[in-house]
Amino acid sequence: MSKMVPLPSKSIVPERDVNKPPILETNHLGIDFGGLTAVDDLTLAVGRTEIAGLIGPNGAGKTTVFNLLTNVYQPTRGDIMLDGVSTSKKSTAQVNKMGIARTFQNIRLFGHMSVLDNVKVGLHNLTKENLAVCLTHLFGYRKTEKQANEQALEYLDFFGMADMANFPAGSLPYGAQRRLEIARALATKPSIILLDEPAAGMNPSETAELMNNIRRIRDNFQIAVMLIEHDMNLVMNICEGICVLDHGKVIAKGTPDEIKSNPTVIEAYLGKKNDKKVEAKEGETNAES
Ligand SMILES: Nc1ncnc2c1ncn2[C@@H]1O[C@H](COP(=O)(O)OP(=O)(O)OP(=O)(O)O)[C@@H](O)[C@H]1O
Ligand SMILES: [Mg+2]
Repeated sequence: MSKMVPLPSKSIVPERDVNKPPILETNHLGIDFGGLTAVDDLTLAVGRTEIAGLIGPNGAGKTTVFNLLTNVYQPTRGDIMLDGVSTSKKSTAQVNKMGIARTFQNIRLFGHMSVLDNVKVGLHNLTKENLAVCLTHLFGYRKTEKQANEQALEYLDFFGMADMANFPAGSLPYGAQRRLEIARALATKPSIILLDEPAAGMNPSETAELMNNIRRIRDNFQIAVMLIEHDMNLVMNICEGICVLDHGKVIAKGTPDEIKSNPTVIEAYLGKKNDKKVEAKEGETNAES
């Protein structure tokens, strides 16, 4: 892991990323839902190959941040820059094309479609133009289709799932469905992938495998990863920079060691960690859009 260095914005990024602009930046980002301020004054930066964490108690606003970053919601205040370009007024699909991919707190797959076709939905983002052209050139279309199959298989192979390619996605065990959702997001060739509670519902060996996979994603694709997670073992082991939200506001930013020993974080979150885990399990249906 590289040393973390501070930026003028008071965010921190890994030393290896510091000579290039952050892949993602938010400036004083905020959103109100009626009278409720769900996120307020969020200023953060994620380095280009950073594994970043976003943590905080239930209802702190973490998923709302992901919904803002992917333009599911329009911010009430502030802005978002992806690789130096504002994502304001873009659609969710456009933001995905610009380089942000995500997975969801509750798995969203096309359960009746094959595993392979689920990944091809991700690839489709990139082959849409080709498809339009190729519809009038059947040979070309077949070639594109063959390429899409090969590429999709490569993503599955990355997660050791190539042998499941023809199964209906909905028939896979839970952990495999989570991996498939990540594979589909990666197939859109993002420069940053957002993972919303990727370890939720996983047993310890699946969580250990996930940790390894998150590092492999960063190393192999040389992209940034930002994850929301309640599993503090996972967060403290793999995240480089961590941002802690409470009631929609940033209460701390720092390295795992800094966050673990921060009294405000312990008071608001870590001290109650065990309660939160129980709550997270009980309240698995949630307010996510
Ligand atoms: N579309 C919406 N309309 C109204 N309120 C919303 C909406 N989306 C989120 N909220 C509210 O914003 C707050 C933050 O919710 P959010 O889902 O972002 O929390 P979270 O940190 O992801 O929590 P958890 O750890 O339980 O997933 C909550 O009070 C939630 O009820
Ligand atoms: Mg959430």
